[in-house]
Amino acid sequence: MSQAADHVAIIMDGNGRWAQQRGKPRLVGHRAGARRVREILEACPSAGVKYLTVFAFSTENWKRTQVEVSGLMLLFKRYIRRETQALIDDGVRVRFIGDRMKLDKVLVSLMDELELLTSQNFVVNLTVALNYGGRDEVTRAAQRMARDVETGKLAAKDVTAEVLAGFLDTHFLPDPDLVIRTSGEARISNFLLWQSAYAEYEFVDTLWPDFTANEFNQLLAKFGKRERKFGAVLA
Ligand code: IPE
Ligand code: IPE
Ligand code: MG
Repeated sequence: MSQAADHVAIIMDGNGRWAQQRGKPRLVGHRAGARRVREILEACPSAGVKYLTVFAFSTENWKRTQVEVSGLMLLFKRYIRRETQALIDDGVRVRFIGDRMKLDKVLVSLMDELELLTSQNFVVNLTVALNYGGRDEVTRAAQRMARDVETGKLAAKDVTAEVLAGFLDTHFLPDPDLVIRTSGEARISNFLLWQSAYAEYEFVDTLWPDFTANEFNQLLAKFGKRERKFGAVLA
């Protein structure tokens, strides 16, 4: 029997190279990449995917030029404004993970509003990782946990993996079953470090702006045939 992937996480990489191949500025690639999300999202319900998590901006992406960073921030704002109605209509519940402190106030208020407007939806859960880094997330969780220990809300001996997971940005998410990275790079670049302990990985050469629902469905079918062991010896 083939298994469904409840939670698929995607490292949407290759926008810059896609633009470069066309002699265009990198932001043209980011715009084309943003347009791909809807098709993949729409493919989720029929494929049995309940959670889709996409990596949009990492804690390390601030190292890029100011032009690219501010262009991306503008794109995120435009994207939220443009897609809100379609997301509501499609029953998509949207949530963001990552550190909002460093993001501009207008963007953060759009993110909060979108989370609120879609909070009653249940067809599919879209999580957008924005200013997200796995190490940063675990560090922030450790800080919050330490604060609770300081104030006596939590005893050190009661800290378990489950308790720690509850402090992560992803506390509302199941662990990813499948992590896909486009653009041919075989690394995880600080994405969902804790949560992906037993995820299956797929690294594909396609650049993100060229990634289609068809390819997505092929990867899901391949996932369905994989044997997951979680450290056990299967009978
Ligand atoms: C991924 O595409 C999008 C972001 C990191 C924001 P890239 O911009 O990393 O594209 P390449 O890797 O340079 O082709
Ligand atoms: C990972 O891609 C981050 C996102 C897709 C948002 P990068 O392009 O930033 O990763 P590296 O620099 O190739 O590791
Ligand atoms: Mg890249």
